[in-house]
Amino acid sequence: MTAKESRTLRPATREDSKAILNLAVASGLFQEDETAVLAEMLADAFAGHLEDHHWIVLEDGPGKGEPGGGAMVAAACVAPEMMSDRTWNLYFIAVAAPHQGRGLGAALLTHVEETLRKGGARLLLIETSGLDSFAATRRFYRTRGYEEEARIRDFYRAGEDKIVFRKLL
Ligand SMILES: CC(C)(COP(=O)(O)OP(=O)(O)OC[C@H]1O[C@@H](n2cnc3c(N)ncnc32)[C@H](O)[C@@H]1OP(=O)(O)O)[C@@H](O)C(=O)NCCC(=O)NCCS
Repeated sequence: MTAKESRTLRPATREDSKAILNLAVASGLFQEDETAVLAEMLADAFAGHLEDHHWIVLEDGPGKGEPGGGAMVAAACVAPEMMSDRTWNLYFIAVAAPHQGRGLGAALLTHVEETLRKGGARLLLIETSGLDSFAATRRFYRTRGYEEEARIRDFYRAGEDKIVFRKLL
């Protein structure tokens, strides 16, 4: 079996919450003490309070695919933008650091885009940091066909801009 064939993409369940939080830290995106907001988002999503939030996980390795039973190496979350006509936002995407650069992020994002497209979504936005440390992340989005649409200066904190990417689905 090739590495590609052993990948499983599936909707996340409540039981995946802890693994997603671990993944957020393992990707380098969050510090251990910064996951509270994400934990709340996950709890709300699986309690049905954020029913429009769709969490997707990617597992890698043979025999994976059972909720909570696999090696989760990547995850993403998308939701529709309020007050828009079929515009969505990718709120979260992360690949565990040891697995970055292996095409898993691209596979996950392609899956998200195809699922959204089939469901009639029109536009996908992605927001990320303008810091130099996110240059590779921004390159990842550009390579996937996203165009830099807006920059909100000092959004995250003084000196850290928000960059908004967009892609027509
Ligand atoms: C950004 C991210 C989701 C991309 O997923 P990935 O599986 O590493 O990327 P892929 O292997 O599918 O694609 C590789 C391309 O992504 C870019 N890239 C971004 N981060 C990278 C990383 N840490 N390692 C390798 N490539 C990375 C490069 O442009 C690379 O192409 P190149 O080899 O031609 O330079 C992933 O690296 C990640 O989780 N990074 C940390 C968290 C993060 O920034 N999340 C997004 C917040 S908005």
